[in-house]
Amino acid sequence: MKKTVLDYTLKIRLPITIFVILTSIVLTYYLSRPERDGVGYSPDQPINFSHKLHAGTMAIDCKYCHTGADKSRHAMIPSVSTCMNCHTVARKDRPEIIKLTKYYVEGRPIPWKRIHKVPDFVYFNHSVHVNREIKCQTCHGEVQNMDKISQVNTFVMSACLNCHRNAHQMLPYLKNVKNGPDNCFACHR
Ligand code: HEC
Ligand code: HEC
Ligand code: HEC
Ligand code: HEC
Ligand code: HEC
Repeated sequence: MKKTVLDYTLKIRLPITIFVILTSIVLTYYLSRPERDGVGYSPDQPINFSHKLHAGTMAIDCKYCHTGADKSRHAMIPSVSTCMNCHTVARKDRPEIIKLTKYYVEGRPIPWKRIHKVPDFVYFNHSVHVNREIKCQTCHGEVQNMDKISQVNTFVMSACLNCHRNAHQMLPYLKNVKNGPDNCFACHR
């Protein structure tokens, strides 16, 4: 009698318990990944804006909308009025454009969800990188093929340093590229 109870515990219960524990570890690992390093984070946005359509098919220059990218620290998200340069005319009867126009008329900014973010104690500057002709795609992936933007690279410290120390290998298309700084005060000022 005692033996069969032990048998049951060993052969059935134990494997099930182990299975449940392992599955939850694996699941937690994958499900929490976007929060941990940002990779794969792709929130729904208030307006269904497609980079594939605007930056891919229509080939609008990234800097037409992201005006800060070669001038300042932040690339910047365009204001509604930039969209309205075209959408006072283009597709103005479509539901998403009606929504867009409503923000414009009411003078409200669109509450776009932020995707890429380094912590406040880190100093990152777009213009330094963009003016060295490092492509947006090196850090943000093939944005012109994305209907919905998703983070493809992690921006943890080791990722910054990996490029800073191996800039020649990381950016083979650039001539005369200097390595980036790896002293603490460059990024933590
Ligand atoms: C017509 C305007 C427009 C053009 C052109 C455009 N973008 Fe954007 N971009 C936006 C808007 C609006 C958002 C915010 C909504 C979103 O995330 O889709 C955005 C978001 C982004 C983000 C995510 C920002 C964040 O929150 O982290 C990246 C990265 C980006 N764009 C890169 C690019 C690149 C690279 C190109 C060129 C290949 C490009 N964009 C062309 C309007 C534009
Ligand atoms: C340079 C002109 C131009 C700019 C700037 C522009 N768009 Fe567009 N957009 C278009 C055109 C043209 C289309 C229609 C393309 C097609 O369907 O072939 C379009 C399509 C769209 C659509 C899909 C509409 C539908 O349902 O068919 C959305 C949503 C949209 N744009 C949002 C935006 C937002 C948001 C911005 C500003 C961040 C923006 N656009 C800036 C030209 C522009
Ligand atoms: C060397 C890597 C790198 C390159 C190159 C780069 N970005 Fe970024 N991008 C980042 C990082 C890191 C962040 C988060 C920055 C922060 O939190 O301040 C970011 C954030 C953004 C954002 C949202 C926040 C903001 O700064 O407004 C947009 C939009 C953006 N990038 C667009 C672009 C565009 C467009 C280009 C090319 C013209 C580009 N990026 C080139 C690394 C890069
Ligand atoms: C794909 C390569 C690459 C990545 C990724 C990258 N950098 Fe850089 N970064 C460079 C290069 C190359 C330089 C040096 C340019 C020069 O001096 O010619 C540089 C320069 C800098 C500088 C010096 C700016 C100045 O004022 O001189 C800072 C700060 C910096 N990067 C921060 C960061 C941070 C923070 C990250 C990660 C979030 C990052 N970088 C990711 C390539 C990269
Ligand atoms: C090229 C840019 C860069 C340089 C150089 C750099 N860091 Fe960082 N550091 C980052 C970024 C980006 C983060 C935030 C992302 C993360 O948590 O990894 C960070 C985070 C940190 C953190 C917080 C760690 C955590 O887990 O939250 C510490 C502590 C730190 N750095 C110390 C240093 C020291 C010490 C040096 C010099 C030996 C240094 N950093 C050099 C970019 C840099």
